[in-house]
Amino acid sequence: MATSVSLARSRFRGRRTLGFTESVIREMTRLALECGATNLAQGYPDFSAPAVLKRAAIEAIEADDNQYAITWGAKPLRNAIAAKYRRHYGAHFDPEREITVCCGATEGMIASLLAVIDPGDEVVIFEPFYENYGPDIKLCGAEPRFVKLLPPDWTFDPEELRRAFSPRTKAVIVNTPNNPTGKVFTRAELQFIADLCQEYDALAVTDEIYEHIRYDGAAHVPIFTLPEMRDRSILVNSMSKTYSVTGWRVGWVLACPDLTDSIRKVHDFLTVGAATPLQAAGAVALAFDDDYYLHLAADYTQRRKIVMEALTDAGFRCFVPSGAYYVMTDVSEFGFSDDTAFVRHLIDVVGVAAVPGSSFFWHSSLGSQLVRFCFCKKYETLELVRKQLSQMR
Ligand SMILES: Cc1ncc(COP(=O)(O)O)c(C=O)c1O
Repeated sequence: MATSVSLARSRFRGRRTLGFTESVIREMTRLALECGATNLAQGYPDFSAPAVLKRAAIEAIEADDNQYAITWGAKPLRNAIAAKYRRHYGAHFDPEREITVCCGATEGMIASLLAVIDPGDEVVIFEPFYENYGPDIKLCGAEPRFVKLLPPDWTFDPEELRRAFSPRTKAVIVNTPNNPTGKVFTRAELQFIADLCQEYDALAVTDEIYEHIRYDGAAHVPIFTLPEMRDRSILVNSMSKTYSVTGWRVGWVLACPDLTDSIRKVHDFLTVGAATPLQAAGAVALAFDDDYYLHLAADYTQRRKIVMEALTDAGFRCFVPSGAYYVMTDVSEFGFSDDTAFVRHLIDVVGVAAVPGSSFFWHSSLGSQLVRFCFCKKYETLELVRKQLSQMR
C-alpha cells in the first residue's frame, strides 16, 4: 500500500504547484524572528496605523457591520474609491460596474489574471519583479516572458520589450512605483508599453500599491490615463501600504465593465469578499485629504535618507529608489559567493535581515549580488539598524 508521503508526491500533488517554493521573503522574516534580527526583509510597517482608521474599524464592528458585504465590495467603499480617482486623476469609474473590492492587491492580481488569461497565453513581466507574479501566471496555465530592468536606473531596452510581445501575449504586468527596484515608470515608458498593448491587442495589468510613496518629485502615471488605454487596463491597488494596514487585506481592482464582469466572477468564487468592517474603515481612509498623502511621502523620504546613509556608510552600493519603500543594493564589494550566503551572514552576525536579490529574478543568477532592504520601519528601528550596520565597517 502506498504511504501517505508517496501519495503526496504523486497523485495528490497538483502539477501547477510543482515549481513553487516557500516565499523567500517570508522565510527571511521567519529566520529574523528565530535569530532576533531586525527585520528589514518583509515590507510591513512596525509603526501604528492611523488612529482614526483603527477607530473606524472598531466602530464598524461595534455597530454590527459584521456580515458578508456585497461580494464586489460595500457600496460606501466603492463610492470612496471612485471619488479618489476622480479627485486625483479626474477619472470616472462607475462604482456599480467598474470597481471590485478584493482581499488585498494579492487577490486583486490573481483574480484579474484568472479572469482574462487562458492556458497557453503569454504574460510579459519586468524582471526583477514582485515574487507573486510568476506563480500567479503559472496558476493561470500561462507562460511568463521576462524583460530586464537595467540598473542603475532600472530602464528597459525598448527592443527587448518589443521582442517579448507576440500574438500569444495576453497581458503585460507593470508595477509602478516598483518593488523591489524603487523605479517609477515615466510617462514615455508607459506610452511605449501602451503602444505595444494596442499593437498586439494585449492588456496592461498595473500594480499601483505604492502610488503615494514617491520621492524627488517623481510623478505617478496610471496607464489607464493614456490615450486608448482606459478599456485595455486593469488597475490593482490596496490599502496595505498607503494606510499602513498590510494585515487588513483590503484592495481593489478597476477595469471597464466587460473585464470587471469576469473579474467579479472569479473574485466571488475565490474569496466572496474582504472583511466587512475593514471595508467600512476603508471608506474613511480613502476620503483622507491631500495632507495625509503629502505627509506619508515626506515621512518616507526621511526614512529613506536614514537607511541609505547607514547602508552607504557600511559599504553597500545603493540604487536610489524614486518610489516604494525599498532600497536595492549591490553587495559585490563584500566578496560573498552569493546573495543568500550574504543575507545569512547579515542575519547571524550583524543582526539585520534583508531579502536576497535572486528571489526577485526568474533567472536567479542575475540577482546573485543584489540584496533588498525595506525601510517602512520606526525611526528608532532604522537608527538601531544604523548602529548594527556600523559594525561592518
Ligand atoms: C508590488 C506589490 N504588490 C502587492 C503586494 C501585496 O499587496 P496586498 O497586501 O494588498 O495583498 C505587495 C506587498 O509587498 C507588493 O510589494
